[in-house]
Amino acid sequence: MTELPAHVAENRRMWDDYAPEWVAGGERLWASEPRWGIWGIPDADLPLMPTDLDGKRAIELGCGTGYVSAWMHRRGATVYAIDNSEQQLATARRLAAEHGIDDIEWVHGNAEAVDQPDASFDVAVSEYGAAIWCDPYAWVPEAHRLLRPGGELMFFGNHPLATVCSSPAGDAPVEKVLHRPYFGLHEVDWTEAVVDPGGIEFNLPVSKWLHLFGDVGFDVVDYIEVQAPPSAEGQEFQAPAEWAKRWPAEQAWKLRKR
Ligand SMILES: C[S@@+](CC[C@H](N)C(=O)[O-])C[C@H]1O[C@@H](n2cnc3c(N)ncnc32)[C@H](O)[C@@H]1O
Repeated sequence: MTELPAHVAENRRMWDDYAPEWVAGGERLWASEPRWGIWGIPDADLPLMPTDLDGKRAIELGCGTGYVSAWMHRRGATVYAIDNSEQQLATARRLAAEHGIDDIEWVHGNAEAVDQPDASFDVAVSEYGAAIWCDPYAWVPEAHRLLRPGGELMFFGNHPLATVCSSPAGDAPVEKVLHRPYFGLHEVDWTEAVVDPGGIEFNLPVSKWLHLFGDVGFDVVDYIEVQAPPSAEGQEFQAPAEWAKRWPAEQAWKLRKR
């Protein structure tokens, strides 16, 4: 524990405590076709995952309950799934057994420093895992190292505008108020927050993401600012549907290693 960066240690503690609340969602999504984000947009409408992963080696960075790994496995990939929380991995292992999948490698560890050789994966994915809980200046170069030239990284998480419009105490929905500076956005500490999510998250201004990708050696294939669908209602996590129909609450990046 002492060797872990402070945010990784804190997020491990938080996610081990929080894991029971993710069991039901994990069960539902293991049984589902691929769908993305807080509004559950089907992959058919928001195509982020290749339909054919036959013969590909894939890594999920921050796999949680493991449903994205299951989807990649069903599409033909050999999957290595790493997560920082033993409790989340316990759910993933149980669900894998219940779904008759015994060949996903579930690994406890930090996605900023993965114990795998250089250029050993064709595809890397993170849905709200490393994508928001790891320092981009650590995990994006690590994902690049792990991929073969031409390999693809897809990640999905909060849009920086939603982070800026989130109340600092975490005690109110995302709103039409710029609560924190956009410039300089990086570590977002929720440890004093009164409600979900807690822990320490990360995000960057869009230009900083772009500069990081270029410096590390990724080309941008696509960038999607996710709009809540017309059918969305109520609030998911801190995002009200009516806000997320007008402003992007989520983002998805597709990158290719040069
Ligand atoms: C919201 S879940 C996302 C995963 C998955 N899509 C799900 O919903 O079950 C976030 C996950 O990121 C993991 N995580 C946080 N920091 C991490 C790190 N440094 N390395 C690997 N996983 C990490 C947490 O343990 C948690 O399981």
